Amino acid sequence: MARSFTEITDLTREEVFEVFDLCAKMKSEEIAPKPLAGKSAACIFTKASLRTRVSFEVGINELGGNSLYITDNEIKLGVRESIHDVAKVLSRFVGLIMIRTFAHSDVTELAKYASVPVVNGLTDLVHPCQVMGDYFTILEHLTRDRYKIAYLGDGNNMANSWLNLASLLPMDLRIGTSPDTPVNEAILKRAQANGESRILVTDDPKEAVADADVIYTDVWASMGQKDKIEEKTRLLSKFQVNTALLAGAASDCLVMHCLPAERGREITDEVMDGPHSVVFDEAENRLHIQKAIMVFLLEQ
Ligand code: CP
Ligand code: NVA
Repeated sequence: MARSFTEITDLTREEVFEVFDLCAKMKSEEIAPKPLAGKSAACIFTKASLRTRVSFEVGINELGGNSLYITDNEIKLGVRESIHDVAKVLSRFVGLIMIRTFAHSDVTELAKYASVPVVNGLTDLVHPCQVMGDYFTILEHLTRDRYKIAYLGDGNNMANSWLNLASLLPMDLRIGTSPDTPVNEAILKRAQANGESRILVTDDPKEAVADADVIYTDVWASMGQKDKIEEKTRLLSKFQVNTALLAGAASDCLVMHCLPAERGREITDEVMDGPHSVVFDEAENRLHIQKAIMVFLLEQ
């Protein structure tokens, strides 16, 4: 079985830093590996995307490969044929599979049966490429022994991904969310079991951002849940990232959002376009980090 990247905990802490090192070298053009030369990579999307689609296509191209954009209209994953069979067939054609879909178990099943690396481009459970790129962005902008990171908003795939990263790297992670929009319990427990990271889950946004180095937010209703936006807005409105909330954070704090943003809902224009915001650096780093992840997996 090839090495896959279905969630951050598929890597060790040392491997996470190996990927960051590779990422820095590729971003500065110190190295330009072509592990996909003469090969194709399949990019399966059963959900919408701007950043993930374009950054993977460009990245695969820069690694020497050819990218195939495949939507669920064609393959009807698990319906037209089993995920097992899709994994076996695709492995005969391509050097790597990237998948964005709803059920996380579809990605782990694909990875189980594929003989080429499978990379998770977002599931309902986690978005590991995003949080790897985000942590790399933090390292570029801010030097601290241990970061105080405040995630505010829905207990969704991004919140779960931060918890996964906290179970590998020491940090002070505060999740500010309502009791009715919780993170995944198993992921929370695993992160709490790691003695190195301090994890706080609070429904008080001020407690979450106190002296924070990073304030992170995401949409309140994720893809597949857009019908819940009014309910989530009612539950989460006090977690909006706005100028008043920033006052309690470190004076040089970074404001982050994985995008796409619903401006005026989870984050104000003033903050998103303000001096603390690094949201477009995060978007750019998706390209560099995913290239590093693909090189790392293909070299195993
Ligand atoms: N952040 C992110 O994954 O963006 P897309 O949904 O546009 O790919
Ligand atoms: N939580 C969001 C992230 C989008 C990149 C979603 O799943 O829609």
